[in-house]
Amino acid sequence: MRFETLSVFPDLFAPYLETSIMGRAQARGIFEFESYDLRDWTHDRHRTVDDAPFGGGQGMLMKPAPIFEAVRDISKRHPARPHVVFFTPCGRRYDESVAERLSHEERVLLVCGRYEGMDERAYELADERISLGDYVLTGGELAALVVIDSVVRLLPGALGDEMSARDESFSDELLEYAQYTRPSEYEGRGVPEVLLSGDHAAVAAWRRRNAVERTALWRPDLLDGAELTEEERALARAVIESSGEGGAK
Ligand code: ADE
Repeated sequence: MRFETLSVFPDLFAPYLETSIMGRAQARGIFEFESYDLRDWTHDRHRTVDDAPFGGGQGMLMKPAPIFEAVRDISKRHPARPHVVFFTPCGRRYDESVAERLSHEERVLLVCGRYEGMDERAYELADERISLGDYVLTGGELAALVVIDSVVRLLPGALGDEMSARDESFSDELLEYAQYTRPSEYEGRGVPEVLLSGDHAAVAAWRRRNAVERTALWRPDLLDGAELTEEERALARAVIESSGEGGAK
């Protein structure tokens, strides 16, 4: 899979993407990455990418021309047409299902805004607009790194252990179950006995139940989309009711 970014800070990405799991996945050819400097598509001495908004108002907007020129030019540099993503708080909220969908693209171009946003006409180039969440970042670069990281870890071989990408929070619309490692007792705090039992079926049943309980307690909004048995729904309802009596932390 190929990721490209278009940004006025093209050097922000490499330190993260060359480290740890991302670095290893790149070295193994699981994904490739290239960043482009939007200023390379300006034509004035100051390499200007922004201008004041018509109608007045605070701050500066990104001009349409460098973005149009850059996206058109970059698109032609490789045979596959890129899936073009623009980052903006007005976009569709990013979640694991979007990451999963993007992981099937051959080539993704991530366009990162800065300043107070972009001239609206530039969004015409977008296949989709994505927001990380209901808060405002100073630019789309962090959002691009979040998307690349969360998509790459879904690619076959990226994590080494094929199971681990699928076993985690959100892959089945539930939060992940609690996990423990050694020591089995730390300053008087134990771990659930069943996890020490070696009984794989009992461990799996405990984990499923724990995932349902934690989701009901901390993210009840996720339960609507989760596939639960009648018994699990009853458990979730009981957790929600008792948390209403002061049980949640
Ligand atoms: N750019 C500024 N804020 C953003 C957000 N919340 N998500 C994605 N891109 C952004």
